[in-house]
Formats: sequence, C-alpha cells, structure tokens
Amino acid sequence: MKSNQPALQSVIWATDHLDLLDQRLLPEEVVYLPLQTAEDVWEAIRHLKVRGAPAIGIAAAYGVFLGSRHAGEGKEQWLQLVLQACEYLATSRPTAVNLFWALDRMKARAEQLADTSNDYALDACKQFLLDEAIAIQSEDEETCRMIGVHALTLFKDDMGVLTHCNAGGLATAKYGTALAPFYLAQEQGMKLRVFADETRPVLQGARLTAFELQQAGVDVTLICDNMAGMVMNKGWIDAVIVGTDRVAANGDVANKIGTYSVAVLAKAHHIPFYVACPLSTIDLNTPSGDLIPIEERNAEEITEGFGKRTAPHGVKVFNPAFDVTPHSYVTAIITEKGIVHPPFDVNLKKLFEQL
Ligand code: MRU
Repeated sequence: MKSNQPALQSVIWATDHLDLLDQRLLPEEVVYLPLQTAEDVWEAIRHLKVRGAPAIGIAAAYGVFLGSRHAGEGKEQWLQLVLQACEYLATSRPTAVNLFWALDRMKARAEQLADTSNDYALDACKQFLLDEAIAIQSEDEETCRMIGVHALTLFKDDMGVLTHCNAGGLATAKYGTALAPFYLAQEQGMKLRVFADETRPVLQGARLTAFELQQAGVDVTLICDNMAGMVMNKGWIDAVIVGTDRVAANGDVANKIGTYSVAVLAKAHHIPFYVACPLSTIDLNTPSGDLIPIEERNAEEITEGFGKRTAPHGVKVFNPAFDVTPHSYVTAIITEKGIVHPPFDVNLKKLFEQL
C-alpha cells in the first residue's frame, strides 16, 4: 500500500498479552493498552476502545484465551473457564454477530481439544486455543483483501464513493471491508474520490475513516452526516459502500446509526448502495432485520460527547447505535467469496451451500 506511515493495527498479540489500540483517542493520540484479562477485553469492547464487527470478534477471541490461561487443575477446569469467558464476553455488545461467531469458534475448538479422545496436555490445549485466536485474526486479513478485490470490480477510475462510519483497517485485521477497495485502488494507481460521513454521535467517520484514509494517501473528503443528500444531488457520488454488523437471512442489514438514511438517499438519487462484509457477518439464523438486537448507548454520547455539554440537562434522549436498512435498498452484498445480488434470501443461502 502506498502510504506515508504504516497502517495502525487495532489488535496486536504481544507474546503474553494483548496490545489494543485505544480507538477512542484517535486521531489525536496513538495509545496501545496492554490487556491481561477477559475483563480488560470486555471493558475495551463495551467502551469502544476496540470497535467494528470483525475487530470486536478478534479481540474477544483473545479474551477467551486470557480468561482461561491460568487454569491449573486439568482440562475439565480449563474448559469450564473457556465456557465462562465465552458467556461473559458475549455480554459486551449485542449487535455485531462477529462477536458471537468468534466466541462460538473458540468454544468449539476448546471442546475439541478437551475431548477425552485427545491426549493433549493442558499447556498444549492452551497454546492451541491461542493459535485459534491468531488464526481468526490472520484469516480476517485475507478475507478483507478478497472483499476489496471483488468490490473494486464495481468501481471505475474517478468515481465518487460515499461511506458511513468506519469499516476500515481499524475495524478489522487489515484493509477493512467497505474501505478495502479504496486501499486496493490506491495500490493499483486507480483514483477514487471518497466522501466520509462524520457519523454522529461518536464520529467514527471523522476520527477513524478520514484518519486512516488520509494516512494512506487516499483522496478523502469529510462531510457532516446531514450533507450526504446535498453531495448526492450535486452528482458527486456514484456509489455508496458501507460495512455491516449483521446481515439477516433476507438481506436486511444492521449497521451504524444513519446508514438507513444514507440508503434511502441513495435510492432517491439512483445511486447503487453496496454492503461489504465477511461471511462471518451473515447470520442465516436471524430471518429478518427486525429480529437483530440493536444496542442502545448512553445519552451522554449525544448530550455531552467529547466532554462538552451540547443539550439541556434532563432532556429525553434516544441513542440507538445501529439501524437496519431493509434489503430492498441494498444493491449488492460483497463478500470474500464474491458479490451477492438480490434475491438475497435465496442467494445468501446458496452462497453458504456452495462452501
Ligand atoms: O459502534 P461501532 O463503531 O462498533 O460500529 C461499527 C460499524 O457500524 C461498522 O460499520 C461495522 O461494524 C462494520 S466494520 C467492518
């Protein structure tokens, strides 16, 4: 990647602990927090120190290892600690299905290792479980690169592309999902003009997307969320691409609050609306978007975000972190295995059957 500085990695396994980039402090400060326990990881996920669906899953996988590594009384006790850590970490945030996907994978691996048909020593089991977390992270890098390869086939030189929130390298192991094609375009000398919504209330678009794209030398213009309609109306936007926290079996898409408004605007302006995600974000067990649990966060994110009071004390506040875009607004879903077109209920299922 052509870049002035190496891309920041959100999660780094450092021999015996996790170094986690505190994303709340970006872009002003680059601080890595040393996490030693499952509790540290839970807290980091809950308070958005690590955020973005795949990165949450990766951090949680390491959290399972951290929460079980001190087991000293045999494989039974170790497995119990693994299961407890999985259950506990699952309560950190509700919407991104990658969290539950990663925890299920760690749990399945631990059950396999602890099975009496295996005669692995306890220390070997612990190491193999750590290896699983490392595999989840390294596979995500290749997955995101392939999402970028497929997504790039939808774009042409000099197109204007709008994105919402941060579905970039910071939200994944590398490259991102929605931002992956921008990095690959950059590598290939193709010029795309990216418009990043600032993404109220906690500004992932301004603080993270604008930051990481600018660092990589991608042409990015930051706009307030309420400017998306205007830039579309001016003809500056040829496509929208966003990430997602969960895709239901019918193709409804949960993503950062404000995504639905962008999708409606895109349809009104006849602009394609693309969603980029790994297969681990597609939840065939949830039939439609109205069944996706939507996290509600503290009122203070809206009334005094970043330390300055901007609303009257005692005012009623509604602060959902995500919304659901009905599948009828989605032009295509781009995965590491290719591009899925409507009808999504049929084609998403087919995609998994072909694996
Ligand atoms: O609350 P956040 O910052 O975790 O929300 C993140 C998003 O909504 C992203 O778009 C989504 O997780 C996809 S990240 C590849």
